[in-house]
Amino acid sequence: MSDKLDFIRDELEEMHRSKSYINMRTMESPADGWMVVDGRRVLNFCTNNYLGLANHPRLKKKAQEAIDKWGVGPAAVRTIAGTQALHLEFERRMAEFKGVDSSLLVQSGFCANQAAIPALVGRNRATGEQDVMFSDRMNHASIIDGARLSGAKIVVFEHCDPVSLEKVIEENLPKYRRGLMVTDGVFSMDGDIAPLDKLYAVAEKHGVITMVDDAHGEGVLGRGKGIVAHFGLHGRFDIEVGTLSKAFGVMGGVIAGKQEVVDYIRQKARPNLFSSAITPGDTAACLAAVEMLDESEALVDKLWANTGYFRSRMEELGFDTGRTETPIVPIIIGDVAKAKEFSTRLFEQGVFAMALGFPTVPRGTARVRVMNTAAHTEEDLDKGLEIFARVGRELDVIS
Ligand SMILES: Cc1ncc(COP(=O)(O)O)c(C=O)c1O
Repeated sequence: MSDKLDFIRDELEEMHRSKSYINMRTMESPADGWMVVDGRRVLNFCTNNYLGLANHPRLKKKAQEAIDKWGVGPAAVRTIAGTQALHLEFERRMAEFKGVDSSLLVQSGFCANQAAIPALVGRNRATGEQDVMFSDRMNHASIIDGARLSGAKIVVFEHCDPVSLEKVIEENLPKYRRGLMVTDGVFSMDGDIAPLDKLYAVAEKHGVITMVDDAHGEGVLGRGKGIVAHFGLHGRFDIEVGTLSKAFGVMGGVIAGKQEVVDYIRQKARPNLFSSAITPGDTAACLAAVEMLDESEALVDKLWANTGYFRSRMEELGFDTGRTETPIVPIIIGDVAKAKEFSTRLFEQGVFAMALGFPTVPRGTARVRVMNTAAHTEEDLDKGLEIFARVGRELDVIS
């Protein structure tokens, strides 16, 4: 007799059969330049710990002190009793750091998109009026989910293409109540950067609201202040969404921009209204990260020096690093099975770097992705390069 959960068993079996079932490795030490993974000490090129802050003593100390002072959790949503003075201090510091009027701290970068997009666009059930969101073809899943949740019509423009953006705006905007343009700042599969100045000019010309998800640019581009600063657009761009889980090394999401826009999102965003506030330990560690970045750009410089060194050596060795402009360096291999084999052999020889294939990246462009960080020394990078070269030759990826 069939059972109501048969579909789950069938799908799990199919995932195993098609080798799409995800087997997660277990980290047995903090996120850092080197980690113990599945019992093996390896050079880590997998985490988004761009500035090496995830295991930084100053952040850990601030988190511990905040737990002593504020407890482990706020035990309420922000709008009821969860807004602690610490949250407000972080939001003020973050806005100051980014050179914007205001910021809102939410539980994660993923949450920030679920918070911001449905607050700005949607569909009015009573009148039937609908808004439209213009979305880069390669946007992150959390933007797509936020857009779906909003009920707005989603219209895709070609990747990093302002001409395509203008075309879809002209074709669609007149049919809808208002429009929102959303793009990733840095695209995490290729490491390329959105042409934000050009996208901004097109959106602004047509009166479309502008939003960027700067998850991989925060702490990395614009001397650490993010992509909007990189393009000199602060004060003009409507909304910057970011994460505190990558360069900042902690957890949380941030929505930053003009005072009235952030105030409005604070009032409307459902993750702010219906999900408890981020913990004091996390908030204090995030605050310490912002203070560190404001005091010194040394870690940002180190990140870019490491990135330049690693990438130029990989290119000299003959690897194809695609179109990256950032610390995300894809090593394009093509065939998925070969990319997986590459990653496995790297791991066996002491380097942790993930293989990515379809549907995460287009067919025929499977790759091993390296995330550069400030946590690596030049010696670490030389060790990594030596192993990449060896495996590359074993598998005929380079000659
Ligand atoms: C572009 C983008 N947005 C949002 C997120 C989610 O951020 P978080 O891990 O803080 O939820 C990610 C993380 O991978 C991302 O790459």
